[in-house]
Amino acid sequence: ENAQLKDIISHAKEYGFVYPSSEIYDGLQAVYDYGAYGVELKNNLKRLWWETMTRTQDNIVGIDAAIFMHPTTWKASGHVDSFNDPMIDNKDSKKRYRADVLVEEYAAKFEREGNVGKANELTATLAKLLDAEDLEGVKQLIINEGITCPISGTSNWTDVRQFNLMFSTQVGSVAEDSSTIYLRPETAQGIFVNFLNVQKTARMKVPFGIAQIGKAFRNEIVARQFIFRMREFEQMEMQFFVRPGTELDWYQQWADMRMKWHLALGTPEEKLRKHNHEKLAHYANAAMDIEYDFPFGFKEVEGIHSRTDFDLKSHQEYSKKKQQYFDPEVNKNYIPYVIETSIGADRLFLLTLCNAFTEEQTEEKSRTYLKFHPAIAPVKAAILPITKKDGLPEKGKEIVDLLKYDFNIIYEDAASIGKRYTRQDLIGTPFCIAVDHQTLEDNTVTIRHRDTTEQERVAISELHGRIAEATSF
Ligand code: GAP
Repeated sequence: ENAQLKDIISHAKEYGFVYPSSEIYDGLQAVYDYGAYGVELKNNLKRLWWETMTRTQDNIVGIDAAIFMHPTTWKASGHVDSFNDPMIDNKDSKKRYRADVLVEEYAAKFEREGNVGKANELTATLAKLLDAEDLEGVKQLIINEGITCPISGTSNWTDVRQFNLMFSTQVGSVAEDSSTIYLRPETAQGIFVNFLNVQKTARMKVPFGIAQIGKAFRNEIVARQFIFRMREFEQMEMQFFVRPGTELDWYQQWADMRMKWHLALGTPEEKLRKHNHEKLAHYANAAMDIEYDFPFGFKEVEGIHSRTDFDLKSHQEYSKKKQQYFDPEVNKNYIPYVIETSIGADRLFLLTLCNAFTEEQTEEKSRTYLKFHPAIAPVKAAILPITKKDGLPEKGKEIVDLLKYDFNIIYEDAASIGKRYTRQDLIGTPFCIAVDHQTLEDNTVTIRHRDTTEQERVAISELHGRIAEATSF
């Protein structure tokens, strides 16, 4: 982990954003809990996504499907047979690794040392072997290159095996009666199996979309980089059903709309890029990622995939239930094609945190603050009486009551005003509102702005409108 990521992780923990899961038992790898400010930030991100999808688009509705699904779902989707990673174990350390990641990290070392030719040769060989599903070849590559285990330092490797990423569990109480089901590895299938339910009951006409936010689970083996790759995470997915033949046009439109959304949230253009997939999954006829420049490099935040009619067709085949739509405009029955936009709520959270984390060094002092767009900041304003006497706390609480039904507000009257400003900077509160003796006389307060630290005098009656304007998206 690099230094900047380390700072962000410890900031997230110290100021109530993200903690390791069950930390008193030393945590659980790749599982995290969100704290007081973390849950607000995450909810704000989810709400913005949900509103963008279901309100600003008049042809998208939401659903909330269960995490458990009929096991055949995952046969039909291809996850049972091919949602795998190639794994290898070191016999000495008994540690398990993703074989492809071992080779990629080994190649990256050459690249860092300036031997780009060798790095490219290794990645090309690996890609060829994985394409051909030649697991023995991958093992030989690891052995021939002398790639060693980071723990034991030896190259005493087992065979490479495919390892399915789905978690399974038993439903039913008696062992003989119970059957194995999976925790969903993507939320998308809950949308596909409900396609006709939603289309009929919400009276949707193609083109239309179904949006969903929910948990997904993957038994990730390489679980690193904080909340970037988790075993339990949340996805925000939208499947857009279109007439066959129009999908590539919609694919471009959705890629552009999603990029604009990220820019509107305050992510700078130079920190975002589109990355087209050269190698397409069997169900896709176009796919790209929106990548963000994390402290560990450009990495996927969101996927936009043109999934053809693969999923609906496969569910039709397995369920023997027609998954067709009658299109009155062309007077035809067909299985719609699907454009998918899929983003991890946790990964968007990490992007937002990395993007907001600001360390400023002036000659006199250094300042750390979280520069969130006010629309997603966990706390919108802090009401801070400058002393605990003379009726200032009472006046402060009156202001809290004016604002608290519409905004998440903090009230604090302990410690020096400077310390309290610093604390709000650290959790990214855009406005600090100081209540002083003049407030009692003329009903004005001082607003201190997080990003500039500039202060201005404003009437209490203006506060609601000011905050509402700044926090609208
Ligand atoms: N339905 C398509 C799908 O699931 P994906 O590229 O596997 O596609 C979509 O996942 C998004 O979900 C990713 O872009 C990422 O933001 C998020 N995601 C996937 N695996 C994750 C993990 N282990 N931890 C956190 N987020 C993850």
